[in-house]
Amino acid sequence: MSGNRTFTMIKPDAVENGYVGVILEKITAAGFKIVAMKYTQLSKRDAREFYAIHKERPFFGELVDFMTRGPIIAAILEKDNAVDDFRALIGATNPQEAAEGTIRKLYATDIAENAVHGADSDENAAIEGAFHFSGREIF
Ligand code: RTP
Ligand code: MG
Repeated sequence: MSGNRTFTMIKPDAVENGYVGVILEKITAAGFKIVAMKYTQLSKRDAREFYAIHKERPFFGELVDFMTRGPIIAAILEKDNAVDDFRALIGATNPQEAAEGTIRKLYATDIAENAVHGADSDENAAIEGAFHFSGREIF
């Protein structure tokens, strides 16, 4: 059975470009309830740990530099079928391949600086939510 919570970040490029408001508006208009949210900045250590699954990839250093260069929004979202529905709302990793109307199509810069993160499974949503909102009963 699919869960009803997911985890997202609005990435530094979208914060820098002034897209926080329009992205949150799209998220809530799509039926997601914001359960927890904070404005924060990742340390290099945080970013390396958060994206550890990608540590052997050639873009890992670039990804860590990007994700730490400015503030982000981290949030827990609630909706039926949250993980899959949110991935559909944000679109493909590469905005050039993202469907029309998706958040990445509208607001991402390129495959590396793609405006938003969305957890890719219920398990990772719970891990990532706990990473950012430790000490709270969120899942
Ligand atoms: P995310 O985890 O951020 O929601 O993105 P995703 O699942 O769509 O893509 P993933 O494969 O997990 O990649 C994580 C993030 O790494 C950056 N990336 N850069 N330069 C590149 O070729 C490249 N490929 C991926 C992106 O920021 C991507 O979202
Ligand atoms: Mg991913």
